[in-house]
Amino acid sequence: MKQYLKHNDWTIEEHGFHPEFNRVSESIFSIGNGQFGQRANFEERYTGDTHQGSYVAGVYYPDKTKVGWWKNGYPEYFAKVLNAVNWIGLDILIDGASLDLNQVEIIDFKRVLDMKQGILSRTFTCALASGKKIEVHAERFCSIADSRLGVLKYKVKALDADIQVQVEAFLDFDVENEDSNYEEKFWLPVKEEATGNEALVIAETKKTAFQVAASMQYFLEKGGDVLDLDQDITLKDKYASSQSSTALKAGEELVVYKYAAILSSLNADKEALETKVQEALDDAVAATYDQLKQDHISAWAERWTLADIEIEGDVSAQQGIRFNIFHLTQTYTGEDERFNIGPKGFTGEKYGGSTYWDTEAYCLPFYMATAGAEVGKQLLVYRYHHLPKAIENAGKLGFNSGAALYPMVTMNGEECHNEWEITFEEIHRNGAIAYGIYDYINFSGDKAYLAEYGLEVLIAIARFWAQRVNWSKAKEQYVMLGVTGPNEYENNVNNNWYTNYMASWCLRYCKESMDYVQANHTDRFNLILAKTNFDLEEWTKWQHIVDHMHYPFDEKEGVYLQQEGFLDKDLRPVDSLGEGDYPLCQNWSWDRILRSCFIKQADVLQGIYFFEDDFSLEELERNFDFYEPMTVHESSLSPCVHAILAAKLNKEEKAYEMYLRTARLDLDDYNNDTEDGLHITSMAGTWMSVVKGFGGMRMKDAMLYLDPMLPSNWKSFSFNLLYKAVLIQIKVSADKCTVSNPSDRSLVFYANGNQMEVQSNSSCSFKLKSFENA
Ligand code: BGC
Repeated sequence: MKQYLKHNDWTIEEHGFHPEFNRVSESIFSIGNGQFGQRANFEERYTGDTHQGSYVAGVYYPDKTKVGWWKNGYPEYFAKVLNAVNWIGLDILIDGASLDLNQVEIIDFKRVLDMKQGILSRTFTCALASGKKIEVHAERFCSIADSRLGVLKYKVKALDADIQVQVEAFLDFDVENEDSNYEEKFWLPVKEEATGNEALVIAETKKTAFQVAASMQYFLEKGGDVLDLDQDITLKDKYASSQSSTALKAGEELVVYKYAAILSSLNADKEALETKVQEALDDAVAATYDQLKQDHISAWAERWTLADIEIEGDVSAQQGIRFNIFHLTQTYTGEDERFNIGPKGFTGEKYGGSTYWDTEAYCLPFYMATAGAEVGKQLLVYRYHHLPKAIENAGKLGFNSGAALYPMVTMNGEECHNEWEITFEEIHRNGAIAYGIYDYINFSGDKAYLAEYGLEVLIAIARFWAQRVNWSKAKEQYVMLGVTGPNEYENNVNNNWYTNYMASWCLRYCKESMDYVQANHTDRFNLILAKTNFDLEEWTKWQHIVDHMHYPFDEKEGVYLQQEGFLDKDLRPVDSLGEGDYPLCQNWSWDRILRSCFIKQADVLQGIYFFEDDFSLEELERNFDFYEPMTVHESSLSPCVHAILAAKLNKEEKAYEMYLRTARLDLDDYNNDTEDGLHITSMAGTWMSVVKGFGGMRMKDAMLYLDPMLPSNWKSFSFNLLYKAVLIQIKVSADKCTVSNPSDRSLVFYANGNQMEVQSNSSCSFKLKSFENA
């Protein structure tokens, strides 16, 4: 764990520069706007350890697969989110020497992420090699009011002596991906141009031929006046800059304004890209920095009205949840159905930035509740469009007759993951796609979605499961061999309980959905039957599978077995491990991990969490008490599920521990991997651990259920929810929960299992369960 950041309600602050954690800070202080994002690199040059990173939504490169030993069925490429134009760059030369925090004496340093306003700033004072002292204040934002724009303001002050300052403002596409498989650069030059204080660079990705255009203008201001200076231009492949120089007397300050516009060929036709990006830049310059900043802050205020969670009495918990909401909001806005939510968002390159099961299993509830059910629909339609590729993908692995296997990792529907034990075996992801449909319908009540899109997907997924199981004569049951469950610290196991349960549920849910569509959308049903070539006899086989699926269970322990043979392991709790063992994935050999009992993330518990109504509280508790002590939570997706289940079991201490772990996973770098980028998808899990965990919120058949509890060190907490298109507020305080309804219609919901009604423009309260008889 690293605890070098200050605890504040609305800000993340690094006081004093920590170069040893610079990559961690670069991830944590990242900013973005759904269209592009930027790690918290310095504007000026820095020769210390850094990962320069700037990413544009949807722009990727299919890097040729690199594996130790090729296996049939591997995809040809691994899609990488592309490190793109460095638009923040300023080369600052003072008296001819490059300003570089790695080369000067830093007197003080402060980096602040203002989450309320969406602004990153940095202030430092340093002594240069010459002994002269300067002060710098830099701030920037990626506008969420106008997502074409990134802008920055950079002030240099001569503190104790006269200095000559030269500023070179540049755009640079000559960047590389740290995770490039063959140390190849992925951008080809298209155009570089600069005149006066303006520059433009357009570059194109190899193979995928995406174009990204960036334009910039910069201004120098002293004493409130914009300086009229000579500009020198530099043009190189994929690089353009303009530079000018001015003298500062001791005490004087120079302000640099840099306006940048970034657009990709996903935003405009290639022929129009240059004009559009210039238009965007002209709009920015005309608006002026202060106005753009104001618009951006107002847009953030609106987002916070929808999504904020307030926690009274616990600053680190408060900071944690806002940090998570902040990053979720700036990663995905739901405006473009071609985009999805990469595990690292715009904050790093690991995981290729593509779509995982994380979206359906973890992210959907946050976006539906804070941005609207239609955003959830958008995410589902994304998968609907990928259905033909998922059928093709299953075909490559030997499945047929319209069976679909959705990829483990994708950009465009094609699989691009290439470790056999995951690509071929971590097939539970297919179930998550179906679960996403179920979850969306439960939230929105939009059952017509099944007729419109959902059923086709469900049929193809069900067909996959029906072909993936086999009949075991020995057991006289269906089994599923050679899979990897959600716990990736086990590979190639037989009868992973979660996967078997998921498969059987998918078959049942598909049938239920077919019946619904047949009864309510008969024409559409007949069209789907024809399109999918569905023979109603298929269902007879599915029913047989559902009735005869093998679910490994141990009578003695009374628990579902994660997989066959789990009990043969040396079963030990995590607290038998030493400090130096964590994280196991960085300290133990892979084979030792595989043989151990230690669990990376919820597996059996993930299933009980998804299908909680199928299990009693006692069953949940037995399984929780059995598995949680062996769980190392080395997947970011683990603590949130445990926090929700622990809250349901009234295990307050555990729920709180798990909440902090998910909320502060990156802020405190629990898993020692924040430098690779933030765990964006698990941030949605953090939201769930408050709302579903402590708030006890569930949505069933578009009906809200609340069963809240209050952690003892919180005075209160409140969250908002778009419920039946009304933004309601739910506040949980010492003994009661208050639901406020600002709309002009009354709303019905369930409080601790009892139906209640909150009248229009009013609020109502109910006692927390633990106070019900008080
Ligand atoms: C987890 C997967 C997850 C992936 C991306 C892995 O560490 O085990 O479940 O999909 O990260 O977040």
